[in-house]
Amino acid sequence: MLQEINWLEKIQETATFIKQKVGGEMPKVAIILGSGLGDLANKIDIKLALPYSEIPNFPISTVEGHKGQLIFGNLGDKYVMAMQGRFHYYEGYSMKEATFPVRVMKAIGVETLFVSNAAGGMNPEFKVGDVMLITDHINLFPDHPLRGKNYNELGPRFPAMNEAYSHRLLDMARQIAKENNIRLMEGVYVGTQGPTFETPSEYRYFWRIGGDAVGMSTVPEVIVARHGGMEVFGLSVITDLGGEGIFVDVSHEEVQQAAQKAEPIMTCIIKEVLNRL
Ligand code: HPA
Repeated sequence: MLQEINWLEKIQETATFIKQKVGGEMPKVAIILGSGLGDLANKIDIKLALPYSEIPNFPISTVEGHKGQLIFGNLGDKYVMAMQGRFHYYEGYSMKEATFPVRVMKAIGVETLFVSNAAGGMNPEFKVGDVMLITDHINLFPDHPLRGKNYNELGPRFPAMNEAYSHRLLDMARQIAKENNIRLMEGVYVGTQGPTFETPSEYRYFWRIGGDAVGMSTVPEVIVARHGGMEVFGLSVITDLGGEGIFVDVSHEEVQQAAQKAEPIMTCIIKEVLNRL
């Protein structure tokens, strides 16, 4: 609890630092780039990059394949900020630390959050390299980012989660996929703490409770974004499979490779949704 005493001040301090660095206009959209999807950052016409290590109060990303910087620039004709690398609970951060950047985004004026991740597919229709629209999530993390004192300045005590992922943006993405002949899957993302991948029985369990894909991120950030009243859009890249009787093995490297393969589709959808916002 001691830590939390200066929490609101920390958010403001970091927001002020970023505003000063960016100068001028602040982005209304933020994108969190997940495992293996950091390359999407290359499609951004980068005006400013701030390594996490230089941002006051930011944790430092530890996982391989994550660059760990905040970038500002244009994606298509929209000015955005992007997190190249995120903070995972399994790395040892508290939920408040892992979601701190989302609080800061809100504090600098971001209204829409795009999240992406790599995930294992349970849905038997999924193939490795598929992109899945996240229509909803199931939170199986052992801790909650909103546990503890609620600050009404940040959001309500009991935020609704009936539309965690914006139906408006989901419809846009479906339309874009249709227009561009893109195979776009849909489903429910199960968020678990990791860092172990699932046993076959765990995959079966997640499928039976209504999940289509499983991963180790995203849910905490989305909860915090919704708490703050942001509109959310999420995509998963299916990097491995754990359907009943199907088991496509995973290693961190394979996850990265599959994610890279799906990158053009991710980019197309994100860019197009951005254009239509
Ligand atoms: N499980 C959990 N997280 C993941 C997976 C998975 O199968 N694939 C990529 N991230």
